[in-house]
Amino acid sequence: MKSIRIGMMGLGTVGGGVAAMLSENGVLIDKKAGSGIILEKILVKDIAKERSDVPQNIRAILTDNPADILDDPNIDIVIEVMGGTKEALEFVRTALRNKKHVVTANKDMMAAYGGDLFAEADRSGSALLFEASVCAAIPVVDVLKHSLAGNRISRIMGILNGTTNYILTMMSGEKSEYSQALEKAMDGGYAESDPADDVMGRDAARKIAILASIAFNMRIKYEDVFTEGITGVSLCDIEYAAELGYRIKLIADAKFSDEGVEARVNPLFIPTGHPLSNVDGVFNAVYIESDMAGETMLYGKGAGAKPTASAVLGDVIALARAIGGGGAVFTGCTCFNEKMIVAPENAVSRFYIRMNVKDSPGVLSKIAGVLGDHGVSIYSVVQKKAQGQSAEIVIITHMVMEKNMLDSIAKIKGMDIVNEFGSLIRVEGED
Ligand SMILES: NC(=O)c1ccc[n+]([C@@H]2O[C@H](COP(=O)([O-])OP(=O)(O)OC[C@H]3O[C@@H](n4cnc5c(N)ncnc54)[C@H](OP(=O)(O)O)[C@@H]3O)[C@@H](O)[C@H]2O)c1
Repeated sequence: MKSIRIGMMGLGTVGGGVAAMLSENGVLIDKKAGSGIILEKILVKDIAKERSDVPQNIRAILTDNPADILDDPNIDIVIEVMGGTKEALEFVRTALRNKKHVVTANKDMMAAYGGDLFAEADRSGSALLFEASVCAAIPVVDVLKHSLAGNRISRIMGILNGTTNYILTMMSGEKSEYSQALEKAMDGGYAESDPADDVMGRDAARKIAILASIAFNMRIKYEDVFTEGITGVSLCDIEYAAELGYRIKLIADAKFSDEGVEARVNPLFIPTGHPLSNVDGVFNAVYIESDMAGETMLYGKGAGAKPTASAVLGDVIALARAIGGGGAVFTGCTCFNEKMIVAPENAVSRFYIRMNVKDSPGVLSKIAGVLGDHGVSIYSVVQKKAQGQSAEIVIITHMVMEKNMLDSIAKIKGMDIVNEFGSLIRVEGED
């Protein structure tokens, strides 16, 4: 049996998972790959770090010198699982230049530099595979690049961040406010000590930039994605959503139309009948609309050592089969389209508005008047008595351009009949 030699960069959560999976499923993996997969060297940052939980055979192949992998002619595949966009980018570029195939889990790098790296891979005739970089165990990159390749994809939307989905699920299930749910997520190891990238929507934005680029065959960068996190979602919004037949989810959403491409991450009211509304806890899901296949949904674990290792090794096995079979051609960059990115203020959707107002005659009609002046038409209104002389108003609008919505809200916030403006959240679905 031929041997395929691997140099791995990083031995943290994902790297540890890859090493463990190769040890647990090694025989099966070799059979499926048609080659012996040999972990030859592992690059770490701090070679002196205490790693008593790491098996001796793995500790024996650690190095802190990238050249031990990049310049070793016996290494066929580099697995990059160190993260970041500085050294990782430099090492991946060098690996490709040195004609090594690369498998990466690095969404930050792929969202920012995917185009450059594919060009490098093309020049050197190497493959660059990145299934693990989006939604870990969910094989969405492969589905978009291969299984659905003959379709025109018009929309790809998903729950792409497990931490925020866990927090929103906790808020809704345990009736807790955002801060309590975040604390629980941190205590349970479902949120990092600095959860900003997750709760502000930036992690999901990087992932939808990668997915939309593949789905729509054009380069969509992280900066092209309008991003709003979940820090402004309150328990009472979640309760109103339930009352109105919705659930609130942090949705990454990209649409392709004649007007251009729209890509965004924001909390969204999802109707309870929509498949994404039932995706709970740390699970991820991706929902794809295409002209031939229709609606497709993929569901699974979007992070963690083993789910991510599963995607990394899936790519490694595919590469090993290709190398063993004389070098099948891998699908490289498929970005041949050029379309405009729709500015967020020109996007159109329905909205949920919640505010606390003075409980006096004519208040509702004044608010409706301001909305009407800006072309915002009301679909439904709920008015509830709040404390003392105040009332809570909840409005769902018809489809409206975001700019008009924001202009009307700016005006409403300045009205003396408004005690406190609560929330503005987009609502899935057309009129
Ligand atoms: N964690 C997940 O569930 C998950 C899921 C999908 C994708 N990813 C992606 O996978 C990648 C790795 O994530 P992770 O959670 O495994 O990270 P991690 O636990 O922080 O591990 C990073 C590893 O890389 C090494 N490293 C970091 N910088 C280095 C440098 N400059 N030179 C050499 N080695 C360096 C570290 O060495 P030391 O051991 O010496 O510190 C460590 O072993 C990231 O791109 C991440 O976005 C992670």
